[in-house]
Amino acid sequence: MASYLWEATGIAGPSGFGSASTAEQVTEGIDASHLTVIITGGSSGIGAEAARVMALRGAHVIIGARNTEAANSVKQSILENTPSARIDIIPIELSSLKSVRAFAEKFLEKDLPLNILINNAGIMYCPFQVSEDGIEMQFATNHLGHFLLTKLLLEKMKSTAARTGIEGRIVNLSSEAHMTTYGGGIRFDKINDKDSYNDKLAYGQSKLANILHANELARRLKEEGANVTANSLHPGLIKTNLGRHSAFFVTALRIATYLLWKSIPQGAATSCYVALHPDVKGVSGKYFADCNVSKTTANGIDELLATKLWDFSEELVKSG
Ligand SMILES: NC(=O)c1ccc[n+]([C@@H]2O[C@H](COP(=O)([O-])OP(=O)(O)OC[C@H]3O[C@@H](n4cnc5c(N)ncnc54)[C@H](OP(=O)(O)O)[C@@H]3O)[C@@H](O)[C@H]2O)c1
Repeated sequence: MASYLWEATGIAGPSGFGSASTAEQVTEGIDASHLTVIITGGSSGIGAEAARVMALRGAHVIIGARNTEAANSVKQSILENTPSARIDIIPIELSSLKSVRAFAEKFLEKDLPLNILINNAGIMYCPFQVSEDGIEMQFATNHLGHFLLTKLLLEKMKSTAARTGIEGRIVNLSSEAHMTTYGGGIRFDKINDKDSYNDKLAYGQSKLANILHANELARRLKEEGANVTANSLHPGLIKTNLGRHSAFFVTALRIATYLLWKSIPQGAATSCYVALHPDVKGVSGKYFADCNVSKTTANGIDELLATKLWDFSEELVKSG
C-alpha cells in the first residue's frame, strides 16, 4: 500500500526521486557521452523517451525496432532538438529468435563498445498466438527474445566493462503485473497451452520472467566477478500503445486508478535512473519502481524458479 501512496502523491523516496520525477530530472548533470546504449522498442512509448533522454545526455543510442519507419521518426524528432544526437537503428523482431540473432550480428559487426542494454520492448494482453518458433507470443517477445539478445551481447558488455573500467548495466522492463501470473509463477509444462491461456496471466508470467531473468543474471555476473549489473523495474502506469490489445480493460483500469498514472517523461524515469544514475553503481539483482528499490513477490525472489527459468530458456533458444 505504501508504494501506491508514493505513486499517487509523487513524494520522493530514499533515492531523492519518486513517481513524479521525469527522465530528464533523474539524469540531470550526467554526462553519458562515453556510453553506448541499446534500447529495444525505442520506436514508441517510454522506450522512445528513454532514447531521447539518453541521447540528450550524450550517449550513442542504438534503437532496436521492428517498425523502423516509426524508429526513424523518433530519431528525426530527437535530432530536431538535439542535433548532436548519435542514434542508429537496427531492425529487430523480438518474437523471432532468428531476427534477434541477426540484430546481435549487425550490432557486433559495428565493433562498438556496449555499456548499457535496456530490454524495453513489450506487448501486453494479446490474444493467444505463437511465434514463428512456436512459442506463446507474450513469453516469446517479452522474455525469450530479450533472454537471447542479452546472451548474445553479454561477452561484449563484459569486455567493454573490463577494458574501460566502466560498469555495464542491463535493465529489464518488467511490470507490477508480474504479481498476477499463473499458479507457480511460470507454467513450464504448459507454456504453449492454448486451452488454458489467459491473456492477463500470460502477460504477468512474461513480466515475472523479466524479473527472474535479471535476478539470475545478476547472480551469475557476481559469481564471475564481471563488472556488469542486471536489474528489473516497473516503469509505472503510462498511457502508451501498450494497451492496444485490450483497450476496454485498460480504459477501465485508468478510470479506477487515475491517480496512479504517469506521463511518458515520468514513465521513462526509472529506466534512465537505473541505467545511468551514479547512486545505482554496484546495485544488482534488484527490482525498482519510481526510481527506488521496491518489493516484488515471493515468486520474484525465488532463486530456484529463476534457475529453472534460465535452464528452460536456454533450451528454448537452442532451437531457434
Ligand atoms: N505503459 C505502461 O503502463 C507499462 C506498465 C508496466 C510495464 N510496462 C513495460 O514497459 C515497456 C515499454 O512499454 P510502452 O508502454 O512504452 O509500450 P509501447 O508504446 O507499446 O512500446 C513498446 C515497444 O516495444 C516494441 N515491440 C513490441 N513487440 C515487439 C517485437 N516483437 N519486436 C520488436 N519490438 C517490439 C513496440 O514496437 P511497435 O511499435 O512496432 O509495436 C514498441 O516500440 C514494456 O516492456 C511494457 O511491458 C509498461
